Amino acid sequence: MTKIRRIPFGTINIPAEAVRLVTEALESGRVSCGKMVHQFEKEFARLHKIKHAVALSSGTDADTLAIAVLYDHGAKRGDEVIVPALSFVATGNSVLHAGFKPVFVDIDHRTLNIDPDRIEQAVTKRTIAIMPVHLMGKPADMDKVMAIARQHKLKVIEDAAEAHGGFYRDRPLGTIGDMGAFSTYVAHIITTIEGGIVITNDEETTGILRSLRSHGRACKCDACKLNVTGGFCKKRFAKPELGDIRFIFERVGFSSKMNELEAAVGLANLANYSAIVEKRRHNLLALMDGVKKLGPYLKTFSEEKHEKIGPHALPVLVAKDAPFTRNEFVLYLEKHGIDTRSLFQSMPTQCPGFSFLGYKLGQFPEAEYAGTHGLHIGVHQDINDEDIAYVLGCMEDFVRLHGR
Ligand SMILES: Cc1ncc(COP(=O)(O)O)c(C=O)c1O
Repeated sequence: MTKIRRIPFGTINIPAEAVRLVTEALESGRVSCGKMVHQFEKEFARLHKIKHAVALSSGTDADTLAIAVLYDHGAKRGDEVIVPALSFVATGNSVLHAGFKPVFVDIDHRTLNIDPDRIEQAVTKRTIAIMPVHLMGKPADMDKVMAIARQHKLKVIEDAAEAHGGFYRDRPLGTIGDMGAFSTYVAHIITTIEGGIVITNDEETTGILRSLRSHGRACKCDACKLNVTGGFCKKRFAKPELGDIRFIFERVGFSSKMNELEAAVGLANLANYSAIVEKRRHNLLALMDGVKKLGPYLKTFSEEKHEKIGPHALPVLVAKDAPFTRNEFVLYLEKHGIDTRSLFQSMPTQCPGFSFLGYKLGQFPEAEYAGTHGLHIGVHQDINDEDIAYVLGCMEDFVRLHGR
């Protein structure tokens, strides 16, 4: 029997530069959102060829605050945001955290993303936005999503939490809708350990996001002078009749700033962005290719000509007629040292936390199928070609042992 190898789902790279920057931040005595966060935002925006970025505490907050921007555009509490039924639960949670109602639409099992042909049926008078998710870095069908949004005057927020390094018609994911929301959690391609970031080309939106992340206060400068230099801020009392703008709270805000230590790790990772994405894409494409050769019982997605999948992870669906279950397959991989994650669930019908919304099992067959038959495994930069051969070898052995 071949020796068991450990193939963790994720990895964390803390380059020497990250240690240097974290030390610099600690020694400066200013560790809450300051100049490194600002630098991280500028660099993240530059890499995505977009004007602005606002860094936050998590990817969930990136989704939530992006949706909460809509209050400044006339949205009312209880308005509706269309989301795919299948995603990490944070997508649905964020709509609720922002005070809106998630309206779920089933997915297309070939892409794992929102089925664009079912979106229109879900639009009502209270719909204010569509939030497609680029699940596992696979681009959602943005041409159709944008066309529906234009027709019904809806905003589009891309949940690009898993979509770092992905492209749709040569445009980086996250830059096609009005805003793109990323997670920089440790399992994601660019990490700040915990964190998130929203990108947009709209300056007004950027100011609203800065206000929202800091309790809704009236301050919207791109870098807070007080946080960066500790100096005197001329704007605070510029309008004496209003008082101190730092203590005027214009909207219902959140407490969601990224801190300097997180940004320091993020900056060092961004310096290796291309190499990380390239290595992960190499791993993802090799695994996709290998799974496709294993026969009809295991399925994964494909990359179309007009897209580049952001290499977040490898999804695998166990076929309906397979002579084994997803759980048997998962157990076999885990016993052989290969970390697995389930492919999330149908949020409205398989996540007990959403049961109060009143959806019934069976309403989202495609998402529910992924919930019971899907899994994903790591493609990260510390997985090498021998690891890939090992993973594919284990899958092949399993199919041979359990196949008819
Ligand atoms: C699709 C999706 N949206 C949102 C999030 C939330 O990100 P975070 O864990 O940083 O809050 C995640 C996290 O993995 C995700 O996969």
